[in-house]
Amino acid sequence: MSSAQSSEEKKITTHVLQEMKRRGEKISMLTAYDYSMARIIDAAGIDVVLVGDSASNVMAGYETTLPITLNEMIYHAASVVRAVSRALVVVDLPFGSYQGNSKEALNSSIRIMKESGAHAVKLEGGREVKESIERILTAGVPVMGHLGLTPQSIYKFGTYVVRAKEDTEAQRLIEDAHILAESGCFAIVLEKIPAQLAARVAAEVKIPIIGIGAGAGVDGQVLVLHDMLGITHEFSPRFLRRYMNLYDDIKAATERYISDVKSKDFPNKHEQY
Ligand code: KIV
Repeated sequence: MSSAQSSEEKKITTHVLQEMKRRGEKISMLTAYDYSMARIIDAAGIDVVLVGDSASNVMAGYETTLPITLNEMIYHAASVVRAVSRALVVVDLPFGSYQGNSKEALNSSIRIMKESGAHAVKLEGGREVKESIERILTAGVPVMGHLGLTPQSIYKFGTYVVRAKEDTEAQRLIEDAHILAESGCFAIVLEKIPAQLAARVAAEVKIPIIGIGAGAGVDGQVLVLHDMLGITHEFSPRFLRRYMNLYDDIKAATERYISDVKSKDFPNKHEQY
């Protein structure tokens, strides 16, 4: 086995991610919510698999991320963990499982780690979740932060437009990034903010900054798997690069299957016992 192969197969830890930032090697992250998809993206060499609360939209069909429960997140996370052998698996703490109560944040994180076997948790917010981050860390659970557009607060924001375009919000975001880093977060997701602001945060804080709609000047990128595969074809923000159009492909394959069944072409004599 070559050294390139063995370094590719090395398990990704929070320390490896920090080392990647120091080396200037970009971090790749995608969401997954089930065993089969997680198996494919891990085999492809993804660095971080996020069991995002976007499962609420993508898997369950809710309009927002708010309805998904802790039990449902643990179910998705356990399925992903069974599939992954190399990537770091990070799980979103769902809405209502941590806000305003650091003891509940700790208990929710412990349940995720114990019942799913995941490697870290992610939560949304800045200074208001500092106490929760510090308490979760006392149990040895690594925490990823999430600033900018934080979908669990959609009813406060009112829309999914770009955040922190104004100076006051940008300044607050920079301060929050420092607070999260000083509180012990191992990385931060920055969602849908100006590229220049994201690059400034990545340059100022020592921990990896992973962007989604935050430009190229950060330490890594994350996308929702179903968006980049073109399964969720009605969602087209500017930051989304689609690598496939699976909605059309799966629909066409289903139409062919239906037609084959109706016309009695399937199964043929080689496809039966
Ligand atoms: O839930 C999710 O998919 C996320 C990403 C958009 C970062 O939090």
